[in-house]
Amino acid sequence: MEQALMETNITEYPLFAKGKVRDVYDLGDKLLIVATDRISAFDVVLPNGIPGKGKVLTQMSLFWFDLVSSVADSHLISGNVDEYPDDLKKHKEVLEGRSMLVKKAKRIDVECVVRGYIAGSLWNEYKNTAVSEGKSDTIELFGVQLSSGLTESEKLPHPIFTPTTKAEEGHDESMTFEQVTEMVGEEQASSLREKSIQVYNKAADYAERRGMIIADTKFEFGTLNGMMILIDEIFSSDSSRFWDKRNYKRGRPQEAFDKQIVRDYLESIHWDKQPPAPQLPEEIVAKTLERYQEVYQRLVK
Ligand SMILES: Nc1ncnc2c1ncn2[C@@H]1O[C@H](COP(=O)(O)OP(=O)(O)OP(=O)(O)O)[C@@H](O)[C@H]1O
Ligand SMILES: [Mg+2]
Repeated sequence: MEQALMETNITEYPLFAKGKVRDVYDLGDKLLIVATDRISAFDVVLPNGIPGKGKVLTQMSLFWFDLVSSVADSHLISGNVDEYPDDLKKHKEVLEGRSMLVKKAKRIDVECVVRGYIAGSLWNEYKNTAVSEGKSDTIELFGVQLSSGLTESEKLPHPIFTPTTKAEEGHDESMTFEQVTEMVGEEQASSLREKSIQVYNKAADYAERRGMIIADTKFEFGTLNGMMILIDEIFSSDSSRFWDKRNYKRGRPQEAFDKQIVRDYLESIHWDKQPPAPQLPEEIVAKTLERYQEVYQRLVK
């Protein structure tokens, strides 16, 4: 197996951000986003990587930006190192296949969450509210009306927009649509909601036809020259819940398509989810890579 790329070292440019998985470099009016092979689980980066994962995820990302380009413009310039600035070409071996050159935008500080199914934090809130509200026909959550009597993982009658704050630290707080309006103005708030739902629909319809469910996802937008564009990454396993349609059954939680193997392993050894995280055995690494490749095969190939 090839070695996992855990760190990058592009000395020509300063770091713009270093996330759990990606190293982002600042090129002035552009950014270079490099997906390493790091993997996180329960919000902690694991000591060993999944060799090749960064490449698979970058190829997925390029695919999604292209797929949704008919409904939303994005920050993407190129994923081809030959089209990068000359001083990056000497890093071709590291960057090839796992990086994207993008336009730097002014980030809009709202996490644009779209949900087609009821899962995760929405299900938790819903369950608790349903108990306290007893017999009413509808339940209002995050400023959205939901009918009562939904079961876990059930498909919603139509996708809903449940934005959150983008907190630098700590947990993101849910925002009502009115709060988004107060923050960015009515016109931009409406565009965020409309675009988010359109992009979700485009990808979710496509995924359905390929036997996959995108239960929910999260976008970031930015502005550039007065235009609103999609930034960051879209439909990655860190921003989205992917379910296998063949195993889907409402009324219970679903398996996370790509990260379940890692999560199950970590649960099986009773790790307390506090850093440092334990080393993954070779077999788990190999199986996880296979799973990422399978998602790619099923959605793109
Ligand atoms: N085109 C862009 N213009 C401006 N900022 C961008 C653009 N694309 C992405 N960003 C920002 O760059 C940062 C990328 O960081 P990254 O997602 O790797 O780490 P993080 O969000 O700090 O941590 P995590 O690993 O939890 O995601 C984010 O803050 C994102 O909002
Ligand atoms: Mg991020």
